[in-house]
Amino acid sequence: MAIISELYHICQKNRMKLYTHNLTEDEKKLIAEINILKKEKNAVILVHNYQSPQILAVADYTGDSFALAVEAQKTTADIIVFCGVSFMAETAKILNPGKKVILPSIDAICPMAAMVDPDGLQHLKSQHPNAAVVAYVNTTAAVKALVDICCTSANAAKVVNSLDQSEIIFVPDKHLAAYVQTKTTKKIIPWEGYCYVHSKITLDRLKDAKNSHPNAEIISHPECPMEVLEASDYVLSTSGMIKRVQQSNSQEFIIGTECGMIEALKQVAPEKDFYTFGTICLQQKKNTLENVYEHLQNETQQVTIDQDIMDKARQSLEKMIAIGRNNEA
Ligand code: 13P
Ligand code: SF4
Repeated sequence: MAIISELYHICQKNRMKLYTHNLTEDEKKLIAEINILKKEKNAVILVHNYQSPQILAVADYTGDSFALAVEAQKTTADIIVFCGVSFMAETAKILNPGKKVILPSIDAICPMAAMVDPDGLQHLKSQHPNAAVVAYVNTTAAVKALVDICCTSANAAKVVNSLDQSEIIFVPDKHLAAYVQTKTTKKIIPWEGYCYVHSKITLDRLKDAKNSHPNAEIISHPECPMEVLEASDYVLSTSGMIKRVQQSNSQEFIIGTECGMIEALKQVAPEKDFYTFGTICLQQKKNTLENVYEHLQNETQQVTIDQDIMDKARQSLEKMIAIGRNNEA
């Protein structure tokens, strides 16, 4: 219980409420105004699973990186408002370049995506000329333009195993790379990046949560350190977590990912109990109803990417989508 209450305070400090949030009258008014704007402008709002309950309330589609990339690729809307972090909005723009893509918060940048740069990657490639290069979708467009294929947490091992090469450079997440290594006979050459949120999820925290809730099923995200994954019952993408919770007969779940995820889980399974041993992703929480309204109204903060980079990065992303999700994800 100590950890859960500590996390609750961390989340409270950052204005994140854990499935206790009832929308205020002002929030309901703003949501109604955003819904009117969406119709007027033929806009769609794509929302990552970590977003706040207020943002979940204006979503047309909620999902993990893979599901949202697919939605972005096939949407017929004129405007995509992407409530997530910048690599997700860039992915939407690359896959559907004719659309206006708006990222409501300019500061919503995943720090892990900034850990690998094109020059560093070129250098690593020159040291392993026979290796294929796989980029987690949590990368910049410039890095995606340099790789053979992208992947998400929903299909990383499937992507790696689809390749002919026996050596695979995998960027930027060393934890996801280590997890993929357990699912393939190929040699994974990892970049040393990591997610600051998932890296703080430790085995001690997991054990503490399990002691408090011994009957709970433990579901963790593959960005967590390996010792946490080994102690978990399931390792899944964020949408994989939603699917598992819906299918499971368990009443209690300990969730090893960003703490806001339990908001999304509570929405699909309100009768079940969720405990988080993760911390908050401040970047994901930068989207607000106010900045969604402002930038949809003014059509500002549109994502722009160099044409040549977009065309190259699109090939890596389209190959990723063609591979599809892991069965359980
Ligand atoms: P998912 O694709 O599983 O939603 O993960 C994205 C992410 O950034 C996790 O930290
Ligand atoms: Fe990036 Fe980690 Fe936040 Fe996901 S949780 S967006 S990987 S910093």
